[in-house]
Amino acid sequence: MINQVNIEDYITGGAVHGKIYTDPEIFNLELDNIFKNTWVYVAHESEVANKGDYKTTYIGDQPVIVTRGADEPEFHVMFNRCRHKGASVCQQEKGNANFFRCAYHGWTYQNNGKLTGMPFPDGYADDFKKEDMGLLHVPRVESYRGFIFASINENVPSLEEHLGYAKKYIDYVVDEDSEGIGLTAGSHKYAYDGNWKLQIENTIDPYHLNFTHHSFFKILEKNTGKKINFKKMHNNERIKDLGNGHSLYELDGDIGIGALPFNLIIFPNLGFVGSHVRVTHPVSVDKTKVDLYPIMLQGASEEENAERLRKHEGFYGPAAFGTADDMEVGFDRVREGLQADAHEEDWLHISRGQNRETIDEDGLITATSSDEVAARALYKEWHRLMTTSN
Ligand code: FES
Ligand SMILES: [Fe+2]
Repeated sequence: MINQVNIEDYITGGAVHGKIYTDPEIFNLELDNIFKNTWVYVAHESEVANKGDYKTTYIGDQPVIVTRGADEPEFHVMFNRCRHKGASVCQQEKGNANFFRCAYHGWTYQNNGKLTGMPFPDGYADDFKKEDMGLLHVPRVESYRGFIFASINENVPSLEEHLGYAKKYIDYVVDEDSEGIGLTAGSHKYAYDGNWKLQIENTIDPYHLNFTHHSFFKILEKNTGKKINFKKMHNNERIKDLGNGHSLYELDGDIGIGALPFNLIIFPNLGFVGSHVRVTHPVSVDKTKVDLYPIMLQGASEEENAERLRKHEGFYGPAAFGTADDMEVGFDRVREGLQADAHEEDWLHISRGQNRETIDEDGLITATSSDEVAARALYKEWHRLMTTSN
């Protein structure tokens, strides 16, 4: 693709241009340079726990099927596109199947992608090779502690290298229970009319908590007597740039919204928040879908896991406070405000705390939790990938 966009016009060290949330050309470049070009989270192994299990999802705008096959390699990530005339071969969100049969003309593929047959095969010449006509695989698939990622670009470093410092925090999530974790409670989903990066930024943005979620904290105080001193909280808490676009927010104790002591962003589409895994799907420049998967502890009692679910629902559930607040204030109002661009000053500021960043013992950039370290980490990797020619 010829890059018509000069990315340097849209980002500085401390600000990003409004157009990066509204310009379809920039969005298309993101699909090519980011989502087709780096590791993207696709599934947790517990979602495809048994041989033959599958899940359909997207890598950016690319529809894929994740399957657990009978042989090595265990996991396959394949484009959900029939090799005959391009129809998607699987429409279910998840299930178990030995094969996928395309509903258009009946070509049939094993769950490892091999084409096993098509109706009336004598219509094809002798040099038509079934073995060359299987579902196409996403070339790189790797799993870290049960989290499966795929990369459409074959030439990326290993997943472990990509995760880097973030591995330690994924380990924490998985080791919360000696029997491991599962995304076995299903997911709940929402969609909003705004850009995908608004959700990623909002995942680590404690600066907004006492404003956007004011009513939640008022009710928390009324019900439990717990009053949060946000100034003190921000002074005690840290955000870290973990490198490669990933970032971490270390919470200072339980503020009533989940079980994990941190929020974690794995660039570009995965988050760990409260006690759920958050997956962000860009649909178009101003449409985003988000799936939340509560994390269940495999060795915990039903009551313990139910309690985790209730707490999760209390802030993030469909009838709760947190998600509804963020969707209205963090996404809808930002989208509305960004329409006011008929002037030169179309910049959004991510410079907060840049003057008080320090380097921690691991050599990572860190600052307090009201600072925009996570946004700067995100846009550093965004800038790197958006200016790399493929
Ligand atoms: S498009 Fe799938 S069999 Fe024809
Ligand atoms: Fe929020």
